[in-house]
Amino acid sequence: MSKRLGILTGGGDCPGLNAVIRAAAKTAYAHGYELYGFLDGYTGVVEGRYIKLDPPAISGLLHRGGTILGTNNRNDPFHFPVREGDKVVYRDMSWKALENLERLGIEILLVIGGDGTLAGARDLKAKGARIIGIPKTIDNDLKATDQTFGFDTAVRTATDALDKLHTTAESHHRVMVLELMGRYAGWIALYSGLAGGADVILIPEIPWTPEGVIKKIEARRAEGKPFSIVVVAEGVRSPSGELVVQRRVEGSVEKVRLGGIGQLVAQIIEEKTGIETRVTVLGHIQRGGSPSSYDRVLATRFGVAAAELAVKGVHGVMVCLRGNDISYVPLEEVAGEPRTVPVDHPLIHTARAIGISFGD
Ligand code: F6P
Repeated sequence: MSKRLGILTGGGDCPGLNAVIRAAAKTAYAHGYELYGFLDGYTGVVEGRYIKLDPPAISGLLHRGGTILGTNNRNDPFHFPVREGDKVVYRDMSWKALENLERLGIEILLVIGGDGTLAGARDLKAKGARIIGIPKTIDNDLKATDQTFGFDTAVRTATDALDKLHTTAESHHRVMVLELMGRYAGWIALYSGLAGGADVILIPEIPWTPEGVIKKIEARRAEGKPFSIVVVAEGVRSPSGELVVQRRVEGSVEKVRLGGIGQLVAQIIEEKTGIETRVTVLGHIQRGGSPSSYDRVLATRFGVAAAELAVKGVHGVMVCLRGNDISYVPLEEVAGEPRTVPVDHPLIHTARAIGISFGD
């Protein structure tokens, strides 16, 4: 039997997943390994569903968004939905995942995921699984890597949206509010707000007040600019301090789905300034489409590095970016608290220096 590695994609999709799969498969094959791709995240490992990622299967993947393996942000192997009679109950099926990996002769499993998926990888490691993590998320909020792939593409998409919103803001003398993803971190809002010329950027890390936002919009009106662009990260709290939740997804590791704060901010602006204010929620557009060249390169570097570590027999770690270098850290250090924007981050200073308001 030839030597064999496995790979899966877990959590939300993200531009660059296919580029990692391609790079890992090419590297594995170059070293005489087969690569099995488990379908739909950990579900495929628990249920023993996979495809062989041989050279024809990975052709044409570099620029493709999404994941050819399918993904899932619900089926944690330690809290796995199982049908019992006419009910779905949650059971610890990690033993089944370990059994399938052994049965299929998978020496090391490459797990591409965000916080929830990597927490699962850490816990499977504790039960004896041989795993290498690969960090992904458009949110860029994983604490053990300086950057995740997917983030750059999301920022470009958001910047493009801001460029387009400027047209209507200027022509109609309106305030245009753009609500962006990012969960509890403001990275996408901060970078795209800067790149897209926002006048106000609201991020979860900096508490804001309606007065702070209005002051900036009124100052612009006084300068003869009766239009403004406001970027709001979905994790920003309401003036009374509450998160605005769109829905709860039962069975998901992180159940809360944020959304709606943009509408609230727009209402406040329109009420207090009398300027017509419209909202755009960019939503999953930020996760879709082809990865940027930066993300293709980062994804390829991660895929190669993970497969090379596996071939050397190293496991129990996650590959990461440190400065401009690829490195790796123990899986025990990768999940948990999100990496949020430090309030003294140089980009906050840069933004303030050119008059961008954070609503504080
Ligand atoms: O973590 C990526 C992300 O897109 C977040 O920015 C967003 O809050 C969440 O996932 C949305 O998840 P779902 O696609 O499950 O609604």
